[in-house]
Amino acid sequence: MPVINAVLGDITTQDVDAIVNAANKAMRGGGGVDGAVHRSGGPAILRDCIARFPNGLATGDAGWTTAGDLPARWVIHTVGPNYSTGQRDRSLLEGCYRRALEVADELGARSIAFPLISTGSYGWPRADAIAAAIETIAAARTRVDEVRLVAFDEAVHKQIRSVLWAQCPPPVGSGTVGCLFEREPIQFGLRGDSYLWRELRARFANMPLPDDWLTLRTLITHVIEQVVGEPLTNRESTPWHDSTAAIYLPEFDPGHGMSAGTVHLPWWAHTGVPILLDRYAALRGSDALPDQ
Ligand code: APR
Repeated sequence: MPVINAVLGDITTQDVDAIVNAANKAMRGGGGVDGAVHRSGGPAILRDCIARFPNGLATGDAGWTTAGDLPARWVIHTVGPNYSTGQRDRSLLEGCYRRALEVADELGARSIAFPLISTGSYGWPRADAIAAAIETIAAARTRVDEVRLVAFDEAVHKQIRSVLWAQCPPPVGSGTVGCLFEREPIQFGLRGDSYLWRELRARFANMPLPDDWLTLRTLITHVIEQVVGEPLTNRESTPWHDSTAAIYLPEFDPGHGMSAGTVHLPWWAHTGVPILLDRYAALRGSDALPDQ
């Protein structure tokens, strides 16, 4: 399985062997990514599109051209399904990622950057498009070593990263704070808590355990507050069932509605963080924590 990274930036500036273009069936350029690729890559790309794709390209298929003036060696064009006009077959969207990786293997490309196919003009719901991309790439049998999922703005970058960390958790070093997150609690407060748990696990994957529990608690609390955007103690006295205890974070919302994407701060204050401190004590010996 290739390493999959969430990258914030412009697809046209990615220094990889191949970048993927979100094209249309005509294969003669357009707006969005398509427009940016042709603008930055220059007329050589359009000439190659005309020569290699005289009849265009089918939805869900992929094909390559020169990358012209772009840092990449090749552009792999793919045509996503147009959700806005009723093309709702998810296998077509998955096919874009699968076929692009097959073309990359034919070319011998070892690094590739994807935009989020169909999530712009073609209107595919972004959370589902991200899940489709990561599921398909993670399951692909490919010789590509590095896959970048390129987000054009910070909110999308956070969303890709949280889905990535939930579906393809990075390895955790031994003796790190991340180790404390290895086993998930049997119950969270709300559905977004599991995404926050995995986000913390990934962020602490290589951070060595501190020598004392107070530093650990400060470390974990600081990152929770950074992600959630307010002090952990803000709602700790809110009654458990009170809806004001829930904080909605769009990057943790898989798009299924209900309590998806909401984090329960009192759960973290009263359960989540104490679980982690208990695990720390189990590792470091019971005197690692103060007398309760
Ligand atoms: N770098 C990275 N991502 C980008 C860039 C860029 N330079 N420009 C746009 N994006 C993002 C958009 O925000 C969106 O999330 O890429 C995603 C895909 O958007 P589109 O380019 O609109 O592609 P798509 O939704 O697949 O629609 C394809 O739009 O541009 C036309 O010719 C194209 O007809 C085709 C259709």
